[in-house]
Amino acid sequence: MPDDVAPSSPAPSVRPSLGVQLRRRKPLESFADDQEASGQPALRRTLGVWHLTAISIGATLGTGILVVLGTAVPLAGPAVWMAFVLAGVAALLSALSYAEMAGSVPVSGSSYSYAYATLGEGLAWVCGWCLVLEYAVSVAAVAVGAGQYVNEALDVVGLALPAALADPPGAGGLLNLPAAVLVLLATVVLLPGAREGAWVNTVLVVVKVGLLVFFVVVAFSAFRSGNFEPLAPMGAAGVSAAASRLFFSYIGFDAASTAGEEARDARRDLPRAIIASIVIITVLYVLVAVAAIGARPWTEFTDGEATLVTIVADITGQPWVAFLFAVTAVAAIASVVLTVLYGQTRIFVAMARDGLVPRVLGRVSPRTRTPVAGTLIVGGAVALTAALVPLGALADATSIGTLFAFALVNVSVIWLRRNRPELDRTFRVPLYPVVPVLGFAACVLLMVTLGWVTWVAFALWMVVGTAVYLGYGRRHSVVGRAS
Ligand code: ALA
Repeated sequence: MPDDVAPSSPAPSVRPSLGVQLRRRKPLESFADDQEASGQPALRRTLGVWHLTAISIGATLGTGILVVLGTAVPLAGPAVWMAFVLAGVAALLSALSYAEMAGSVPVSGSSYSYAYATLGEGLAWVCGWCLVLEYAVSVAAVAVGAGQYVNEALDVVGLALPAALADPPGAGGLLNLPAAVLVLLATVVLLPGAREGAWVNTVLVVVKVGLLVFFVVVAFSAFRSGNFEPLAPMGAAGVSAAASRLFFSYIGFDAASTAGEEARDARRDLPRAIIASIVIITVLYVLVAVAAIGARPWTEFTDGEATLVTIVADITGQPWVAFLFAVTAVAAIASVVLTVLYGQTRIFVAMARDGLVPRVLGRVSPRTRTPVAGTLIVGGAVALTAALVPLGALADATSIGTLFAFALVNVSVIWLRRNRPELDRTFRVPLYPVVPVLGFAACVLLMVTLGWVTWVAFALWMVVGTAVYLGYGRRHSVVGRAS
């Protein structure tokens, strides 16, 4: 299709050195002109502050609290709630930096766009490539977690899927059908537009907050304070190891920042939405963790089970309650799939507009004014990944990529304050520069505590990303053509 071919793809006769290319920045003011320059219809501005908060909560509450919690309890013991606080503080510090950037650079594309405006094309590409881990790869991981709850629900009614259709190759099956179907359904919901997607997402967010509140109420009815002694049997090391693992459960709070171009008043509402969502999420996580440990001694938590539903089933003794809980949990996780998939498609819109990924990913349909082709391509690829790849290392790979991107956002805030002090900021991080410096340090600390296997996977990912940049982005960069 002619649209897919970059109109001026031939490189200039004298190409600048790689060092110059990597450092070139996208002027902040040019973000506003992007739409017109791209010749694409503008995205519709339909989202208010509650829609944006719901996008962030929708992208965050899911597999982390419903599945990964069970794997963190053996690391930290009853102090697992402290690990949630620790991970939450790390996320909050970066959230504040996100909020400042969202109020200064209110465009789609998230930390990728922030990095492009401040740190240059090289680090922006690295950031965008890491965001693919945070978004597309994590959607696959999260959908696989949902598959566990689907199987749990089917099991209760005696309709469990055969292993061949419930597990990926390497885990005793051929493909994870529930996970793939979930991703495809989310893709279809997103095709008509942000408002419809956001509306469905808001309903799902209400459902899953209700689910967690229901869990807390049921679990507190069986609360035993003796379960909290000793509080931290594995000491501070156990708590920080659990915090690294649980960071996964906070990933996604920044999803609202990918909707900057569809927000009615992005500069005012994005910072509010990001901070509101992370506070709500942290409170919920701590309540769920305390309730879970109060209801079941920490030594009885085991890896790989749908933790919360088994606690509810034990306390109520009613299979139908377990069934309803599992079904609702699937809906809860579905909203993560929906919003994170949305985020990935919008990041690709920004990157395609900049010429760093093929233009087809950024083409906005004149009829729906949404990136239909990009949504189908991303949805298809993620569904395939969810069908074939087991959860395991995917979650840690997601965390390391996200932490790297967050670290860059903290640096971006400092860069922008020093180099563009006059810029109109609707939100300023408190206690500058302490907050972004601490935010950066917290991200690095959590990255360091992830295992070496994760680091090797991350290194491979970056090698592939470098090859893609050198083979495509470097030649097609719009900023490069303009300079
Ligand atoms: N934070 C997301 C979840 O917990 C990835 O599912």
